[in-house]
Amino acid sequence: MSNAGEIPREEGIDHSLSLIREGYRYILNKRRSFNSDIFETRLLGKKAICMGGKEAAELFYDPKKFKRKDAAPNRTIQTLFGKNGVQALDGQAHKHRKEMFMSIMSPEALIRLTDITKKQWGLAAAKWEETDKAILYEETKEILFRTACEWAGVPVQVSEIKKLTSCFGAMFESAGAVGPKHWKGRNARNNAEKWMKELIEEVRQGTVNPPENTALYRFSWHRELDGNLLDIEIATVEVINIIRPIVAIAIFINFIALAVHHYPEERENLQIGDENYVEMFIQEVRRFYPFFSFVVALVKEDFIWNGYQFEEGTLTLLDLYGTNHDPKIWDNPDVFNPSRFTNWQESPFAFIPQGGGDYLGGHRCAGEWVTIEVMKVSLNFLVNQITYELPDQDLSYDMVSIPSIPHSKIQIENVKLRM
Ligand code: HEM
Repeated sequence: MSNAGEIPREEGIDHSLSLIREGYRYILNKRRSFNSDIFETRLLGKKAICMGGKEAAELFYDPKKFKRKDAAPNRTIQTLFGKNGVQALDGQAHKHRKEMFMSIMSPEALIRLTDITKKQWGLAAAKWEETDKAILYEETKEILFRTACEWAGVPVQVSEIKKLTSCFGAMFESAGAVGPKHWKGRNARNNAEKWMKELIEEVRQGTVNPPENTALYRFSWHRELDGNLLDIEIATVEVINIIRPIVAIAIFINFIALAVHHYPEERENLQIGDENYVEMFIQEVRRFYPFFSFVVALVKEDFIWNGYQFEEGTLTLLDLYGTNHDPKIWDNPDVFNPSRFTNWQESPFAFIPQGGGDYLGGHRCAGEWVTIEVMKVSLNFLVNQITYELPDQDLSYDMVSIPSIPHSKIQIENVKLRM
């Protein structure tokens, strides 16, 4: 018997539909109405705990309290994650696999990545000068797919680029989808895995030879804790775990373009080349705009936190969007204001667009530095290297589709390279 109090509970048989209808704001709305950072509900027929805020994030990222094995729903594994990837590991197995990811994130590797990104933006923009209009979101995905493959040492035939860009996009675009979009995501994953598995086989046979500092090389030759080469299906999932999210940075880059359009006064600050301001602007884009709404884990074993009982096996959701818009952490959280980061006391649990906590000891996004660097290059390109116009279009984005993308996908026209 414990003396634990009751977690505020949302009454009713199941609230999966509310989660779908309220999207990014579901957990935040309920936290407000319960006046509590934690509440209990029922999702997909099961009891679930939802929580948000800094303290909740600290708890969620304690590996003694939560585990990831069997936490993600099958539909997410079939589209976004893939089977048996780093996301589903715990303890030593997770640390060993995460070291493999972090080993390709050295400062030199990030410089190589920014150089490739700059080159790909230049090639794409030269092409846009010759056309009437371009859809920025679609173009950015292709720029990033080409960038990701070159950086990861993955050879790709020019004739395959459009089809594969679309496959890699569909894997994250279907992250919160049901119905045909979900099936498109599954199909995309099957195609991408088939392509990648053949490449890894060729690396292991010596017929494809990527540079040693690349993901394709390192992951193909990675050994598990037992000394065996990583299972080829898993190596496939993990190389895709590098390329897919780099393509997904297209979403943040589109929000950069949107922010520059909606807040034209920012353009001047960004054009004077103040690196600190550029960084603050990028942090604010990652905080303000919606991307992934929450992350999930299972309670590892019974424990009590702040007087509340957590029972082993309970599905727990940590609110990423809501924590980044938590008024206890952020002044006027619904105002876009890069200057809020001027004297910001960095905390790995308060600002969590890509998860929180520690990289090696926890599940925080392995590609956060990659994301920031690619965003910096892209921002500089959009603001300083080209001029363009936005014709009339629907630039709104909804707070329900996960991930949310501006409805028009941002059409640009009259693109000119600056001299
Ligand atoms: C596009 C912007 C991105 C967003 C919004 C994003 C977001 C996230 C989130 C929310 C997580 C889960 C954190 C958790 O489970 O607690 C995550 C994990 C991960 N991300 Fe990202 N990410 C992005 C870009 C990237 C990039 C560019 C890479 C690789 C180059 C990457 C690789 C990973 C990996 C491997 C994991 C699993 C980490 C683990 O389970 O230990 N992500 N990301």
